Order: sequence, then structure tokens, then C-alpha cells
Amino acid sequence: MLNEDYLRLKALVDDHLLDFLPDIDQKSITLYDSMRYSLVNGGKRIRPVLLLAACEFCDFDIRLALPYACAVEYIHTYSLIHDDLPAMDDDDLRRGEPTNHKVFGEDIAILAGDGLLSSAFEVMMKDMLLYFDNPDMLKRRVRAAYEISKGSGCRGMVSGQIADIEACGKDCSKEFLDYIHLNKTAALMISAVRAGAYIAGADNDRLIDLTNYAECIGLAFQIVDDLLDVEGDESVTGKRSGKDKELEKCTFPSIYGYTESLNRLDELTNRAIEILSPYYEEADFFISLAKDLAKRVK
Ligand code: IPE
Ligand code: IPE
Ligand code: MG
Ligand code: MG
Ligand code: MG
Repeated sequence: MLNEDYLRLKALVDDHLLDFLPDIDQKSITLYDSMRYSLVNGGKRIRPVLLLAACEFCDFDIRLALPYACAVEYIHTYSLIHDDLPAMDDDDLRRGEPTNHKVFGEDIAILAGDGLLSSAFEVMMKDMLLYFDNPDMLKRRVRAAYEISKGSGCRGMVSGQIADIEACGKDCSKEFLDYIHLNKTAALMISAVRAGAYIAGADNDRLIDLTNYAECIGLAFQIVDDLLDVEGDESVTGKRSGKDKELEKCTFPSIYGYTESLNRLDELTNRAIEILSPYYEEADFFISLAKDLAKRVK
């Protein structure tokens, strides 16, 4: 399903994901074990891959963006640990393994999420310390970290998660459904491409085109996730199916129906491709990614 560039960038993330974690005192080893458990348990790594791909698309050395790529995956992993807690979606399977709280207990799982979230900001700040004598590079990194903090927090993912919870069992308008999905899922993907573009010192046109592209595939990604919850194979998705219905979640299939959701997915995929097509083969990676993501449900 995934193209060669995706696998190359994913391998780079997988190889360095643990390297950027702060040294944790031996006395807190349970914290490390539990953070590590969720981090290394598979994962498509789409957000860090998007960050690195955006950086490469804007012609910059991707190794210099790795701390930010790993930070985004720490944030994403924390969000999954908390999303699976009994107080939230109450899931027992994630990435094909028991969820963090099933292995370590709810108390440790909450702290593992806290640890990953704060580590993300520590790794980005630590990287900035290296650029105090280079104001241009420092500025780009501050901008990248700002994007990531916005997209992951109260103006992004956390808002989407709240909206997702509060909409359970209620009538939900199509506008509100878009609001949930744009925030809980697309926001961090938008931040990832913008962060990669900022680190690379991209021009404004590329920044805007990448932003619009990520908005489309972010929304498309959550539609696919919702559809896979209806009829996905647990051995492929690595998580339980049918949970959204059980929790009366507001999802694309619950509001639009299955076929109309597929149409919306097609529209968003085509729009994403259209946005980056003017870059011809330079945008090949992004164009095939949009197609590959949609193919997960076909
Ligand atoms: C799952 O994200 C949560 C959503 C926002 C849909 P992914 O589907 O990217 O999960 P992993 O990281 O590959 O396990
Ligand atoms: C979660 O959405 C989005 C997050 C920010 C974690 P879901 O609740 O649909 O994700 P899954 O299906 O559990 O992976
Ligand atoms: Mg959820
Ligand atoms: Mg969930
Ligand atoms: Mg889901």
C-alpha cells in the first residue's frame, strides 16, 4: 500500500524514536517502560512522515527536522493512550497489542501520556538551544514548535477530543462532525506539514498548499478510520471494530451513511491531489499518499 518514500521516512522515524526521549531516572523506570511500550508498538507514523516529507519537499536536510518529527509522534502516542482509557473510548486493543492501561494500569497509563506529551516539548526546546547563535534557524524552529503546540492543544486535537466525547449519543450536524474531525485528527497533520515547511524555510505558497493538502487528507484519514471501525479487519487495523457504534459516536458513516462517506472520501482525495498537482513530480510522494490512504477502505 505504501510507497517507497513512505517506507524510507518511516524507517528513519522508527530508528530514532527512542533516541530523543529524555533520560529517565532508573527509579522511574516504570514510566519509561510504559512510554516505550506504546511508542514501539507499531504505528503507521503518518504524522512524523508528513513532517519529514514536507521538509524534503521544501528542499531541506530532513535529519535536522527529526526531533520535531519524533515530538509529533510522542504527542500522537500520548493521545492514543489517553483515548483508550476507560473514561474515554475504553479500548483494550491498540496497534495489535493490549492497550497501555491494560498492561500497566490506568494510573501509569495516564502518567505515560503525560510523560510523552511533556517529552515532546522537551525535545523541541532542547533542539532550539543548539541554534542560539543562528537566529534564522532558531526562528524557523520556534515557528515549528508553535505550530505543533497549537495543533495538539486547545485549538486543535484536545478540542476535537472534547467535541467527540460531548457529541456521543446526540444529534450532530454535518458542520459539527467536520469540526470534530478537523480538530481531533486533521489539526495535528496540518501542524506536522507546517512544522516541516517552517524548518525548511519554505516560501509562503508551499506553506499554504501543504496546509490545504493536509486539511484534506486529515479529514479523509478520519473518514477512513470511521469506515474501518464499521467493517475493518481487527487483524489489519490492530484495534477493535464496532466501538464507535457501541459508544454512539458521531462519525461519517453514522451521519452520512457508508456510501456517501466513500463519496466524501473521494472528493477530499481528489481535492488533495489537485492542490499539489501543479508541482508535478516534486509532489509525487504526497499524491500517492493521498491515493494510498483512500485505498485502505477499497
Ligand atoms: C489513530 O491514528 C487515531 C486517529 C486519529 C484516527 P493512526 O491510525 O495514525 O494510528 P497509528 O499511529 O497508525 O496506530
Ligand atoms: C482518536 O479518534 C483521535 C485522537 C486524537 C486520539 P478515534 O477514537 O476514532 O481513534 P481510534 O479509532 O481509537 O484509533
Ligand atoms: Mg476517540
Ligand atoms: Mg478511540
Ligand atoms: Mg476511530
